[in-house]
Amino acid sequence: MESTKSIEPIRHPLVQEIIEHEGKTLFELVEVFGSAVHILLPEIFQENLTLYESALKKYELKHGILYAAKANKGRSFLEMCSKASSGVDVSSIFELRSALSYGVIGENIGISGPMKTDKFLLLAVKHNSLIAIDSFDELDVLINFIKSGLINEKIRILIRIGDLQDKKSRFGIQKDQLDEIYKILDGYSDFFDLQGFSFHLDGYSIKERANAISEIYTEIVKGRDKGFNCSTIDIGGGFTISYLDENNWRLFQDINEQQKALFYQNKKFTSFYPYYSVNPKEKFLEEILNSYVQNTRTRIFELLQSGNIQLLIEPGRSLLDQAGFTVMKVRGTKSLGEENLVFVDANFNHLSEQWFNTDFIPGPLHVPKISTPMTHEQSFVASVAGNTCMENDMLTWRKVPFSRKPKKDDLLVYTNTAGYQMDSNESEFHQIPIPEKITMFKGIGNRIQWKKDSDFSQLDLL
Ligand SMILES: Cc1ncc(COP(=O)(O)O)c(C=O)c1O
Repeated sequence: MESTKSIEPIRHPLVQEIIEHEGKTLFELVEVFGSAVHILLPEIFQENLTLYESALKKYELKHGILYAAKANKGRSFLEMCSKASSGVDVSSIFELRSALSYGVIGENIGISGPMKTDKFLLLAVKHNSLIAIDSFDELDVLINFIKSGLINEKIRILIRIGDLQDKKSRFGIQKDQLDEIYKILDGYSDFFDLQGFSFHLDGYSIKERANAISEIYTEIVKGRDKGFNCSTIDIGGGFTISYLDENNWRLFQDINEQQKALFYQNKKFTSFYPYYSVNPKEKFLEEILNSYVQNTRTRIFELLQSGNIQLLIEPGRSLLDQAGFTVMKVRGTKSLGEENLVFVDANFNHLSEQWFNTDFIPGPLHVPKISTPMTHEQSFVASVAGNTCMENDMLTWRKVPFSRKPKKDDLLVYTNTAGYQMDSNESEFHQIPIPEKITMFKGIGNRIQWKKDSDFSQLDLL
């Protein structure tokens, strides 16, 4: 049967090492902190930061990397941003307070997010953060701060543009509203420093992002003509990553096309995250930079260089690529006619992909508590069900081939869950506690250590 083909997820060597050699620790963590436990790997996050940093340096661009903090609530990643003196993109006052309290300086913080609250804007101004203006109302709030004498410093702003590449977004300001914005800013030129423009596009198109940069460049030129500083383009996030290698991705696509009963209860899904990317992470960025400005022989990076423009990026998911995984205890199994289920002590709130009406295709991996020699008869095909009373509480609808039947108190591991999967939709439904986050690291030694995420410090790596 085709569905018995295993779709193996990509594992960073450190992830593989932990799963293979630190099984005892994983079992202990689940015993002590309860199931599920999210493991964070800040050193892999640091590797990803370095990949982006090196790519941007290669093109000799003035740049900044702002980690999109919405992608994971883990504090360890903020510690790493502080360690690298790199930036963070925040979308709420709570994310801003976290970033500041974990050592990221205000100047390195980008403020995005729709219709920001007054308190959020004030805290951002007080810390000299770079605010991406999303609406006229936000400007009004800032002007009221100025009028009431709350602000003496210059406010660093970008204007977020919402209608690029014929896409209409509910975020940002329309291009044809910019003249109105310029008029308002002119009236308060001692207080506003318009540094440029920002955008974030839905989807994963390199071409659209390259064209959007060209569009924004035109606005930069107009803005400069009107006497504004305008020297920054913030292109948001959306850089793809590979959860699967190409073979496994093609294998999944093939069986998804050919096979009827691939998912539990004949569930149908119309779309999946592109789990394999030809240009993952910094390569995606390089593809954008190497694209031609429409109808010219000038590449985007040349445009940025010659225009003396700083490029800001806001990667979330891709900085977290491989930087975490989720461990859960098996409660037991059930056979329902032709179909089998593995029940885990975890639920669909710990794997957010399920909230987007799609299935998380990579994994899971099975870590037996007691290792017994494998026999062919032990293999078992099952979907993975959660611990709530909801019929649709499934962690994996796909029928997964396990080389041996998972047993009560074994572990299942979902890899690469740090980007959005772990905690975007976490809740205490049924009063089930929110999973603990545990940070694992090596530092300068070769031994794997762990701490609670809330206790981890960059000093632990020295
Ligand atoms: C404004 C903004 N910046 C950055 C990001 C991060 O995107 P990603 O995690 O896909 O890189 C998002 C995601 O929604 C966003 O809305």
